[in-house]
This record gives sequence, C-alpha cells and structure tokens, in this order.
Amino acid sequence: MKIIIRNNAKEASLWAAHYIAKKINDKAKITDKPFVIGLCTGSTPIETYAELIRMVKAGEVSFKNVISFNMDEYVGLPESHPESYHSFMHKYLFDHIDEPAENIHILNGNAKDPEAECAAYEKAIVDAGGFDFFLGGIGEDGHIAFNEPFSSLQSRTRVVTLTQDTREVNARFFDGDPSKVPAQAMSVGVATVLSAKQVMILAYGPKKARALASAIEGPMSHYNTVSALQNHPDGIIVCDEAAIGEVKVNSYRYFKAVEAAENL
Ligand code: PGA
Repeated sequence: MKIIIRNNAKEASLWAAHYIAKKINDKAKITDKPFVIGLCTGSTPIETYAELIRMVKAGEVSFKNVISFNMDEYVGLPESHPESYHSFMHKYLFDHIDEPAENIHILNGNAKDPEAECAAYEKAIVDAGGFDFFLGGIGEDGHIAFNEPFSSLQSRTRVVTLTQDTREVNARFFDGDPSKVPAQAMSVGVATVLSAKQVMILAYGPKKARALASAIEGPMSHYNTVSALQNHPDGIIVCDEAAIGEVKVNSYRYFKAVEAAENL
C-alpha cells in the first residue's frame, strides 16, 4: 500500500486529480478500450472533481472514453432530491465534463426489485471490462462505500443498513436531522471495490485520523472495512497531515521516505 501525504486537503486533491487524469491518458495511448472507473461522493472528492473539470476544459484529459460506476446511492430518496448521489454527481462532475450520458452508471435506489438492480450492476461492471481504477473515501467508522463495520470483506453490491453513526455524520446534509437520512443504501461491496486494478482512497481532516490509522496499521478486519485495502496489490491512500496524524511516528517517517525516494 502506498501512502501519499500532502500538507492539506487542497494539495492532496490536486495530486489525486492529476494522478487519475494520467491513468486515463496512459490507457488511451495504448488501447481504444474504455477506462472504467469507480467514483465516490461526499465532501472529500469535491476538489479532485473540480480539478478534473478544469483539466477537461483545458483539454488536458477527456472522459469521452471513460465508463463510470458510482459506489452507492440512498434507498428511497428520489433521484431529483438535492442530496441524492445522482444529484451530487451531476452537480460536482458530470454536468461539466465530456463523459457520454450512457457511460454514467449510478445505482437506482428506487428500483422495484433491489436485488435484481444490484445483480445487474455487478454484471454491468463485468460487461464493461472490470474496473481499471476505483476512487473512494473513508467514513469516520472506517467504511469504504457504504460497507459499514461488520460488512463481509467478500461483499458485492447489495442493499445495506446504515449505522446510526453514519446517519449522524451525514445529517449535516439533511437539516442536521439524522432521522431524515435514509436508513438504507445500495452499495458496491468490499470485494467489488477490491476487484479494481488499482484503488485510491482519499482521507482528509482529523475526523478520519483514527479510522485511517486503524486501516493502515491495524489488522485487516470487517470492523474497519477500508482495512481490506491491505489485501489489494495496488492500493493508494492520499491524505493530508491531519488525517495521517494517528499513525505511529515511525510509520509516518517511512511513508515520507518512500515518497521522497520515489518522487511521488
Ligand atoms: P465524506 O464522506 O467525504 O463526506 O467525509 C466519506 C465517506 O463517508 O465515505
């Protein structure tokens, strides 16, 4: 696992955006096959998306041959609700880039048959060729996508019940009222995320520090589902100084030494 530490969230977000753009451009140089990417929502990726939008407008990268799958969506929230992940993605990314509408995939949290919706999502990912790259965040409880503590590390796309902690954290988007946060979501599983050739996790701010330290230094455990990244051959964590603050001093020094040696 690579750990990239930047002074602040802004610098980390730019680093992540440039890394993703390079991955898209590198694949386009060698094949016509689409670049298949998993995308996340939340406060964390907003600056990265803003930089990708700037790069698309500047002609530095294109999403014309990118196929995306979002990691999750609330169950029962209308797509048009301002806090749905459909709304979020259009507002912060899709309305401003050149990704064809038919390449955009987001789970339908209002599907009549949720099980069939989740199974079709997994199939669509396979049909697209599988993920080249997955971009994720981390919850304060260590969740990756909405894989809450005790989610199977073998899980695939399914309906999940959100923890009270997550509903409280997300209440800031729902008038500060946790009871307005949907109780369930559809989410890709831990194994779905780990099926990507490369997985990048973004984590900023002191509120993520404990979960991040336990994901990096603790045992791999369903209690902190991001820790499953330890079992991935190509995982990258991009964080700021605040989010890395709870790891051991020697771990921190090692990450910085690798960064310097590899010019990351
Ligand atoms: P955040 O959410 O980016 O809003 O902190 C991340 C997550 O819950 O995975």
